[in-house]
Amino acid sequence: MTTVYLNGEYKPLAEAFINVLDRGFTFGDGVYEVIPVFNRKVFRLDEHLERLDNSLQSIYMENPLSKDEWFTIFSKLVDTEKQVNQSIYLQVTRGVTERDHDISLADNPTIFVMSRPIVKKDLFSGIKAITHDDIRWKQCDIKAITLLPSVILRHKAKEQDAKEAILIRDGMVTEGAASNVFIVKDNIIYTPPKDNHVLPGITRDLVLEILSRKNISYVEAPIVIEELLNADEIWITSSTWEIVPIVKLDNNPVGNGCVGKMWKKTNQFYQEFKKEL
Ligand code: PDD
Repeated sequence: MTTVYLNGEYKPLAEAFINVLDRGFTFGDGVYEVIPVFNRKVFRLDEHLERLDNSLQSIYMENPLSKDEWFTIFSKLVDTEKQVNQSIYLQVTRGVTERDHDISLADNPTIFVMSRPIVKKDLFSGIKAITHDDIRWKQCDIKAITLLPSVILRHKAKEQDAKEAILIRDGMVTEGAASNVFIVKDNIIYTPPKDNHVLPGITRDLVLEILSRKNISYVEAPIVIEELLNADEIWITSSTWEIVPIVKLDNNPVGNGCVGKMWKKTNQFYQEFKKEL
């Protein structure tokens, strides 16, 4: 039975309940993080906690716990699971108040954390993605729990036998429904710059860090839809999926329709980096 953390207590998942007036439930008033655990070690802890701080700050909340307190919770939950690779999910909401938009009513956040095994799907042989209008709001840099657009977009992808939707806003690529996007053209790697339309992905930043270390040049620049459609390679990145090649976009092959050589090289460096930990 999975053990979870809820507001200071560790308990079985089946016994963890929240009040129906929790603002996460009534308003979607909260933020979250997904932190991978590889070989039982929490991966990029500082980076995830820094992004959590930024998300909380953007919604006028303070981080309710210190870094050490978060780490203690993560460690306990990771220990209770058998699998060596896990995904920690944490959610902080503004807590329970009467159903009133006024945030000054809230003084006791709800903190929920669980860790689940990472189920390895066969993604590294390449997946299909669709393109779709970016139907989300203009503060996508906040890791907000209000994920209805992403849920709809992933469903639209699934309806077309695809696993991800690559989003287009005003003719430019922003990101995936739950991932960041990279393209390769003539051996040069491109990814959109971080702004309010993109979640600052921890995996995205790590990929760039690894490329820099290996002296492989990349460009952080806006990508227009035509560049996406004509790319030699397309990759998406996320903490749980890592770096995944897209081999089919809408109904067309990406490049020659096979996993690209730049992906192979980058993924190899990424996997080596993970092992060094
Ligand atoms: N999602 N962009 C969006 C919109 C995302 O939801 C995610 C991750 C990313 C990649 O970020 P990172 O590399 O830090 O995981 C980019 C997580 C995995 C989720 O919601 O489950």
